[in-house]
Amino acid sequence: DTVYVLNGPNLNLLGMREPEIYGADTLDDIAGMLEDRAREHDVEIDLRQSNHEGHLVDWLHEAQAHDAKAVILNAGAFTHTSIALHDAIKAIRTPVIEVHLSNPHAREDFRHLSYVGRVARGTIAGFGALSYLLALDAAVRF
Ligand code: DQA
Repeated sequence: DTVYVLNGPNLNLLGMREPEIYGADTLDDIAGMLEDRAREHDVEIDLRQSNHEGHLVDWLHEAQAHDAKAVILNAGAFTHTSIALHDAIKAIRTPVIEVHLSNPHAREDFRHLSYVGRVARGTIAGFGALSYLLALDAAVRF
């Protein structure tokens, strides 16, 4: 079984981007932690990042076409703007778990609306890199 881990805009800069908010771990560090955990669960991880909304839409479709077990999605700022991601999640049967490093509800008002969260199976936010590991623990139970 494969779990897709899709990351949106600016997450390629993790580690140097506002570390007081997002932590010191890079996306590669997170990929390493996820791979260790995935091995324990006997699943594969397919982790990707793009700054382009359409790539994320394509990858959601691909997750379903490839019969992925689940998608862990940190859509970055597209979380708060993207009806296209909302519709893509609705269009597929693959369960999607929304994750965030920070807790958007404890931040600016414009982060309080999540188009992803409205259609995700569930949301894990506020635990830094651990948010991804908790999401994987949930995904393997689907
Ligand atoms: C984020 C939260 C978003 O509001 C923000 O735009 C990001 C990162 C997070 O992981 O905490 O880019 O998704």
